[in-house]
Amino acid sequence: MTEISCELIKAGKTIGFVPTMGALHLGHLSLFEAVKQYADVAMASIFVNPTQFAPNEDFDKYPRDLKKDVEMAELYGIDYVFAPSNDEMYSKNFLTNIHLDGITKVFEGERRPTHFDGVALVVAKLFNIIKPHYAFFGQKDYQQTLVIKQMVKDLNFDIDVVVRPTVRLENGLAMSSRNNYLTDDEKEKATIIYKSMLEAKSAISLGERNKEKIVKIIVEKIAEVPELKIDYVAVVKQKDLSEVDNFVSGDEIVILIAAFLGKTRLIDNMLITV
Ligand code: PAJ
Repeated sequence: MTEISCELIKAGKTIGFVPTMGALHLGHLSLFEAVKQYADVAMASIFVNPTQFAPNEDFDKYPRDLKKDVEMAELYGIDYVFAPSNDEMYSKNFLTNIHLDGITKVFEGERRPTHFDGVALVVAKLFNIIKPHYAFFGQKDYQQTLVIKQMVKDLNFDIDVVVRPTVRLENGLAMSSRNNYLTDDEKEKATIIYKSMLEAKSAISLGERNKEKIVKIIVEKIAEVPELKIDYVAVVKQKDLSEVDNFVSGDEIVILIAAFLGKTRLIDNMLITV
C-alpha cells in the first residue's frame, strides 16, 4: 500500500483517504463521493479495528462483508481499498499507544474509556501507511472528528481533515453500520432522536437560550418512546465540548445524544449556531 502511495506522490498526484470499518452505507459513500472533489486519487480502508472496541463491545458481531464493500467502493469512485488483517496492523510485539487527554475523557470517551485511544492509534497508522493529503470523516461521529483534528495537529501530520455532514434516512435516522442490529420497527422508533434535536433547534430559533431547558425538551421528546434509554444528552460548545449554561447569539453549539435501543447503542448530534 505504501509503495503504491509513494509512486503516486512521486508522479505528482494528490491522495484523498476515507478510513472505514466497512459495512458500507450511504454515509460512507457520501465521503467516497467527496474525495474526488479534493484529490486525484481516492483511497479507502476497510478494517474493523480491534483496539477501539472494549472487551464487552460488539467487535465479534460487527457486520463484515468485504466483497460487497469493495464492489460498492469501486462503484463510488474509490481507486484503492486497503483492507489489512489484524496481524498486519498489530503484530504480536506491538507496544505503542496514543492517548489524547481531555477530549477523550467526556461523553463517548467517558462511556468508552479506551475507544478514542484506539481510534487515534489506528488512524495514525493508516495515515502513515497511506500518506494522504486529505482525509475524510463524517460529522455523525462528531467527537471523533475533534479527536482526529487534534491528533493531526499534535503529531504534525501534514493532512487536511475534511468533515462532511451526517447522511440520514428520509425519516431522519442517521445512517450507521450499527443500524443493522435494529428491526424495522426499532429503526422507526429510533427516529425520535433526530426529532428531539429538531425540536430543540426550533426552540433555540424561537429564542430559548437556557441549556437546561433545551436538554429537557430533548429528554421529554425521547421519553415518548419508552424503549429508548438515554445514555447522555448534552449541549456543549462545538469547538471543545465545553459547557455553556446560557447561550448568546452567535454561539456555536452541538447537541450530543447517545441512547440504547435494546442492546444497540446509537449516537447522533446536531450543530447549531445560536
Ligand atoms: P465507521 O463507523 O465505519 O465510519 C467511517 C466514517 O464514516 C467515519 O468518519 C464516520 O463518521 C462516517 N460516517 C458514518 N456514518 C455516517 C453518516 N450517517 N453520515 C456521514 N458520515 C458517516 O468511524 C469509524 O468507522 C472508525 O472509528 C474509523 C475512523 C474508521 C477508525 O477505525
